[in-house]
Amino acid sequence: MSNMTGRIFLKLLGVIACLILVALMSADFLASRVAERYLLTHLQAELADKGQLLLRSQAVRNLDQAAITELGKSISTRITVVAQDGKVLADSEADPATMENHAGRPELQEALQQHRVGAATRTSRTVGIELLYVAMPYEKGALRLAIPISAVNIEVGIIRNRILQSVALAFLPAVLIAAFLSRRLAQRISDIIAYAGELAKANFRARLPEGATGELGLLGQKLNETAVNLERTVQQLQVEHAELDRLERVRKDFVINVSHELRTPLASILGYTETLIDGALYEPEHNIKFLNIIRHNTERLTRLTADLLTLSRLELRTQEFRFASFRVNDLLADVVDTIRPIAQKRQIVLQHIPGPADSEIFCDSEAFYQVVSNLLDNAVKYTPDGGHIEAGANPHRRHDGTEWIEFFVRDSGTGIPEIDQPRLFERFYRVDKARSRELGGTGLGLAIVKHLVKGHGGEVRVESEPGKGATFFFTMPVEHADLQAHPA
Ligand SMILES: Nc1ncnc2c1ncn2[C@@H]1O[C@H](COP(=O)(O)OP(=O)(O)OP(=O)(O)O)[C@@H](O)[C@H]1O
Ligand SMILES: [Mg+2]
Repeated sequence: MSNMTGRIFLKLLGVIACLILVALMSADFLASRVAERYLLTHLQAELADKGQLLLRSQAVRNLDQAAITELGKSISTRITVVAQDGKVLADSEADPATMENHAGRPELQEALQQHRVGAATRTSRTVGIELLYVAMPYEKGALRLAIPISAVNIEVGIIRNRILQSVALAFLPAVLIAAFLSRRLAQRISDIIAYAGELAKANFRARLPEGATGELGLLGQKLNETAVNLERTVQQLQVEHAELDRLERVRKDFVINVSHELRTPLASILGYTETLIDGALYEPEHNIKFLNIIRHNTERLTRLTADLLTLSRLELRTQEFRFASFRVNDLLADVVDTIRPIAQKRQIVLQHIPGPADSEIFCDSEAFYQVVSNLLDNAVKYTPDGGHIEAGANPHRRHDGTEWIEFFVRDSGTGIPEIDQPRLFERFYRVDKARSRELGGTGLGLAIVKHLVKGHGGEVRVESEPGKGATFFFTMPVEHADLQAHPA
């Protein structure tokens, strides 16, 4: 037994012992009272009977002091005869001449004034011990008998002892059972206290063994539930904390990225402008070239700020989509036709693979254009000359039963390493920074694509085998999608 269990056990046992003691004391008190009263009543009746007999004896009738003394001794009872006025006429144990008037004694008052048997117990002034007095009236006054009460007390003592012994014997199994139960109770209470201590130390993994019944079992169960809830909450908070950390990192990265992306073209513009002002403006072999570089960087800045604006509008959801139903084949053909001249410049075959004739999607046509042109722009950028690109659409049914169209843009280009695929849709994420920049990219295209698609309730993903090309997929709803269920 541990220290704590021992302490609890002793306390419980102490309480039980106190209870048993109180029960014993009250049993004793009641039993002795009952026995005493019973014995006294019994004695009283006996003395009254004796008195009736004595009243008929010669000794009493003649008030024969010597005979009365003799009689009293023989029945171990003090006999007193009192006149109507209380004067003692005869007494078996004292000289009546020296005795005071007895009219005031309660038992005699009852006998003399109310003419019935009176009784009282008190310490005799004459003989100095506690006596039971019984007085009864007769023609000349009253006869009083008295015997010491000590006999009663002895009897009561014997009865008390017997009762106490049997009660104590009866309590013995109760005490043993109580000890056993309190030991078990103490063990369980100290288990629960130890468990609460674990919880207080934030160890929410700990569990109390189940299976206990009763209030303590219920308490244990509730504590376990509390631990489960706390563990879950803590985990949730940890996840949220990690997510906040991640978002904070993303935000910082974003700020750094934006400043960096802005600074590079600005520095270039500033540098070439100064060079021109410093004289290059009049050097025909340089001025056009420098002005072209300035224009190129200005375009880049314009594109960058436009992309950033689009992104922030999408993220803040201030971008308003104008939804309507459009034919899939028409929409796709429009974008493909716009991009085709750029592809042709590099001998890339750009092919539109028509889907089901009349299928439609419910979308913002401007956003759709932006999505597909971004994907085609990438496909052209990251496919070597003479490559092959195709774009098409297929019907797609989601798990929830809703109808969607899945678009794809497939190229025969460099492809994307698997390790980069999950992060591809993050802002500023580029697989090969230098190459992407050289191609005029800022890494915002796919982030915009993702936001636009999500704004329609759709999803975007990529499949790629490096060296063999990449395929980008995205879905658009056939009918108005419940955007609440698929928040951007
Ligand atoms: N079809 C593709 N084939 C190979 N890599 C691709 C393809 N599309 C995208 N990528 C990779 O994903 C990166 C991110 O693309 P994203 O469109 O976001 O940026 P970008 O094309 O570099 O710049 P932007 O589109 O903003 O002009 C690209 O830098 C490139 O490394
Ligand atoms: Mg791009």
